[in-house]
Amino acid sequence: MAYHEQYSRYVGMVEETIEKLLPQTREDLPREDGIIPAHLCEAMRYSLLAGGKRVRPVLLLAACEMLGGELEQAKVPAAALEMIHTYSLIHDDLPGMDDDDYRRGRLTNHKVYGVGQAILAGDGLLNYAYECLLDHAAAHPENLRGLVLAAQAIASRAGVSGMIAGQSIDLLSEHMQPDAGRLAYIHAHKTADLLTAPLLAAACIAGADEAQTEALLRFGRCMGLAFQIDDDLLDVEGDAGQLGKQTGMDAQRGKMTWPSLVGVQASREKSRALWDEAERAIAVFGECAWFMQAFAQQLRGRKK
Ligand code: IPE
Ligand code: IPE
Ligand code: MG
Ligand code: MG
Ligand code: MG
Repeated sequence: MAYHEQYSRYVGMVEETIEKLLPQTREDLPREDGIIPAHLCEAMRYSLLAGGKRVRPVLLLAACEMLGGELEQAKVPAAALEMIHTYSLIHDDLPGMDDDDYRRGRLTNHKVYGVGQAILAGDGLLNYAYECLLDHAAAHPENLRGLVLAAQAIASRAGVSGMIAGQSIDLLSEHMQPDAGRLAYIHAHKTADLLTAPLLAAACIAGADEAQTEALLRFGRCMGLAFQIDDDLLDVEGDAGQLGKQTGMDAQRGKMTWPSLVGVQASREKSRALWDEAERAIAVFGECAWFMQAFAQQLRGRKK
């Protein structure tokens, strides 16, 4: 199967699973338990179904298939991870954080629904992701341990020593003198942790051995760091229309970024070296890593 077909197949699985887990509800004041009020549901779906590259869930599905795991068991964890990523974007865009007006080619959640409802839409996606993960694990007693460990891998990397830690230090570092150690911490946690999460989750679901898990983690870490350097570069030299978000915002907010630390040229070189290392890490899987290799190739040249 060609790369684009395989990528569309995975994205299709993600979107279909999201639709199943989070259909639009109709009642403003639900009369039964277990129904999301319509307005809240709409705000959650607004950002979740706005497109996006679906990098994290595609990595989870692809890694699971590469390792010979059950794809059926990976779909809900993949969709749950995309919910967590989307919540992180909704909150990242809030006036108290990066204060951005555009995301995924549309107005940001708070611009449409107001700050209060946007906070709740983010909280909603985060909480619902864990409800889905736990329900799913309970529904699969044949791989309960694998699915609980996958949920734990996602929770720890999204959590207070993972993505949230990175976001906290990112905010505290605005207008500070750029510092390599601090920036490495920010990128490792705010971004790379959510790229290792799907790979580790897939390893848990598929029952990968230690060497396979280590190789996947190295792939995810390098890719995650490169991905954020590229994001920083796109903020300087990318096209807002293509990106679906405004550019030039990092400098305006005094963000600590790779270009602010070492300049554009050295940032490009660092990114290139990390992508090369990521490709070497995944090469140990040989032929069956063809999709991962191609996906990394696509991401390293991305314009959005
Ligand atoms: C944006 O993530 C936030 C970063 C970690 C740079 P993506 O670039 O994966 O955003 P979407 O999901 O495609 O919108
Ligand atoms: C955000 O990094 C990473 C998250 C955890 C959301 P950025 O703040 O650089 O992401 P963009 O540029 O707004 O997408
Ligand atoms: Mg941010
Ligand atoms: Mg931001
Ligand atoms: Mg950015």
